Amino acid sequence: MTATLDIEASTATPPSVATAIEPAPRPQPGREILRVQDLKVHFPVTRGVLVKRRTGSVKAVDGVSFTLRQGETLGLVGESGCGKSTTGLAILKMLETSGGRITYDGTDLASMDRAQERHFRRSVQMVYQDPFGSLNPRMRVRDLVAEPLEIHGLAGDREATRARVAELLEMVGLLPYMADRYPHEFSGGQRQRIGIARALALKPAVIVCDEPVSALDVSIQAQVVNVFMALQRRLGLSYLFIAHDLAVVRHISDRIAVMYLGRIVEIADRDALYARPRHPYTQALLSAVPVANVQTERLRKRIVLRGEVPSPLNPPAGCRFHTRCPAAMEHCRSQEPDLRDHGDGQMVACHLYD
Ligand SMILES: Nc1ncnc2c1ncn2[C@@H]1O[C@H](COP(=O)(O)OP(=O)(O)OP(=O)(O)O)[C@@H](O)[C@H]1O
Ligand SMILES: [Mg+2]
Repeated sequence: MTATLDIEASTATPPSVATAIEPAPRPQPGREILRVQDLKVHFPVTRGVLVKRRTGSVKAVDGVSFTLRQGETLGLVGESGCGKSTTGLAILKMLETSGGRITYDGTDLASMDRAQERHFRRSVQMVYQDPFGSLNPRMRVRDLVAEPLEIHGLAGDREATRARVAELLEMVGLLPYMADRYPHEFSGGQRQRIGIARALALKPAVIVCDEPVSALDVSIQAQVVNVFMALQRRLGLSYLFIAHDLAVVRHISDRIAVMYLGRIVEIADRDALYARPRHPYTQALLSAVPVANVQTERLRKRIVLRGEVPSPLNPPAGCRFHTRCPAAMEHCRSQEPDLRDHGDGQMVACHLYD
């Protein structure tokens, strides 16, 4: 048995929390809510104890552009260290950027006034990978879920908070009596639901989900993905859904962006990407996703990439992928390919398609 994320199998087992929430058809994505243009996040590398000298920079994110629409899920995938979390943190305004522009609902993050900033801090939330480390073990679930309301001065009286916490727990498939328990009394999947309830407390429009199921057992991953999908249908949320492989994002994403060493190499509608991946890196990532059908699985060709991911301190010239690309040509070493639309909305940054 392969370690795929088997959503179908899990929804067939009764009664999944997500299906109990609201089995409505998926709405069409609405207007654009987030725009990232040529985003750069470079971390300075310094040397010296007393006098720090800057000796270089880690180009964690180096020219990333994409948009996110209301009610849409954009999957963001790529190997460890390619800049996914850094991209997410920059969107949450939790990091200083080195270049580019991020706009939320038409307003530039860099030029928000206080009221806009306050609104933004409520509207964009994050769910973290580690459901064990991200919840304070000394707080009851009730206080954990109410904390964002307290911080933003939206808690109201005790009764109102109590009702809101119960409502939030119900939304993520937990029961009201669980509010009085501590995080250690819950399983990994349940803790992640608590993390989601916290993120929902402020009624956000966008949630950056940073590998929210990677730390969970495969059997639990599908249930938590289903919770995200049901909430999206119910609340019209937009997700930037980060994962390191293409198996996890398949069911939840409308579109998928593939990152390699600080840049997006391909971005396309989910079905197009799986049916005809264009970038050699996407092809390699996809070839590593196991197929459920035994026959197809046997015939499947795996593309094993040579070598390690180069350091973002000193990325290769030209196309950053050329050092590992099975199809690299001479000019890939010197000319950086642009991310371009090839007429059908599938954008790829590769000289094979020039
Ligand atoms: N605060 C920081 N200071 C210096 N370098 C950093 C910092 N944060 C991240 N980096 C570096 O930036 C690069 C991108 O890191 P990032 O965490 O965004 O990758 P990721 O794609 O989320 O990886 P993973 O799949 O392991 O979570 C890595 O080389 C990382 O070491
Ligand atoms: Mg990360």
